[in-house]
Amino acid sequence: MRIFDPNQATLQALKGSSISVIVGVVNNDLQGLATSPTAANDWVQTNISPYLPNVNISYIAAGNEIKPSDPLAQYVGPAMQNLYNVVTSSNFPTQIKVSTIIDMSLMGNTYPPSSGSFCDNASAYINAIASFLVSSKAPLLANVYPYFAYLSDPTDIKLDYALLNSSRVVVQDGNLGFQNLFDAMMDSLYSALEKIGAANLTIIVIEIGWPSDGGVAATVDNAGTYYKNLTFHVNNGTPKRLGTLETYLFAMFDEDQKGPTETEKHFGLFSPTKQPKYQLIFS
Ligand SMILES: *[C@@H]1O[C@H](CO)[C@@H](O)[C@H](O)[C@H]1NC(C)=O
Ligand SMILES: *[C@@H]1O[C@H](CO)[C@@H](O)[C@H](O)[C@H]1NC(C)=O
Ligand SMILES: *[C@@H]1O[C@H](CO)[C@@H](O)[C@H](O)[C@H]1NC(C)=O
Ligand SMILES: *[C@@H]1O[C@H](CO)[C@@H](O)[C@H](O)[C@H]1NC(C)=O
Ligand SMILES: *[C@@H]1O[C@H](CO)[C@@H](O)[C@H](O)[C@H]1NC(C)=O
Repeated sequence: MRIFDPNQATLQALKGSSISVIVGVVNNDLQGLATSPTAANDWVQTNISPYLPNVNISYIAAGNEIKPSDPLAQYVGPAMQNLYNVVTSSNFPTQIKVSTIIDMSLMGNTYPPSSGSFCDNASAYINAIASFLVSSKAPLLANVYPYFAYLSDPTDIKLDYALLNSSRVVVQDGNLGFQNLFDAMMDSLYSALEKIGAANLTIIVIEIGWPSDGGVAATVDNAGTYYKNLTFHVNNGTPKRLGTLETYLFAMFDEDQKGPTETEKHFGLFSPTKQPKYQLIFS
């Protein structure tokens, strides 16, 4: 599972489970961690060390969806570096990797997937992240939402293609055939990384979901189909990168007080009263 911040009660509750956990650094902590190795050390001693080895912590995610124009963008690379220095010099039972979370707004071109590239204005930002991840052999964490891509053009994008529910190739790109929008978005991201010399970066899909209510194509039937098809599909990877693709569904629970749009309240796999909304099988 992934937690957005190092919530102590959550980490405490995970003790003794074998569930692997990705722990987020909140964006407002990035500047401090970037500018002070002591702050990075304190962060790790407070939020990671006390839980080892009883909590299976796999990654630290330094920053969530920081945009290149955000004043915090300059701190993402240095914060990752300082956290990396602490975890690699600590005597932890297993290597904890340090990464950050991007979203698809960094993409300038996504179609066809082989033409995928980052926006010019994202280039300094993503280059710094990619070179750190390549040299530290850590994966890139990406939020990938075919739902929002579908929403941007529901006339031209077929619903079956967005729901991973098409049984035939919809987009042919060179010798690769795409049956769903998720594969196309992922492969455009792989193509963009190739173009900046990060061809071998592993991507972990750290958020992906479909709302069950509150907007266009947001129904329990569509979302259930989407999650079922997706959990099955990611065992096989994408046309460009075959093999299992580590994927985290967003989110565990409906967040009934979230906004601003109504759909934001309906991304859960469970209702606020802990009832499952879908019958999903993960094995
Ligand atoms: C920790 O999680 C990883 C998956 O990320 C798993 O392979 C490993 O077996 C887990 N370790 C323990 C001690 O449960
Ligand atoms: C960056 O460029 C993209 C187009 O490639 C544009 O949509 C976006 O608004 C720009 N962002 C900034 C911060 O300039
Ligand atoms: C997607 O899931 C639906 C509902 O479970 C199923 O009928 C359909 O065959 C699946 N489609 C693909 C392409 O796997
Ligand atoms: C990517 O990995 C392959 C196989 O390990 C290797 O041959 C290739 O040189 C790597 N490419 C880059 C750009 O590092
Ligand atoms: C998914 O595809 C199947 C088979 O074509 C179809 O019966 C079903 O209605 C589709 N589901 C959705 C939610 O579009």
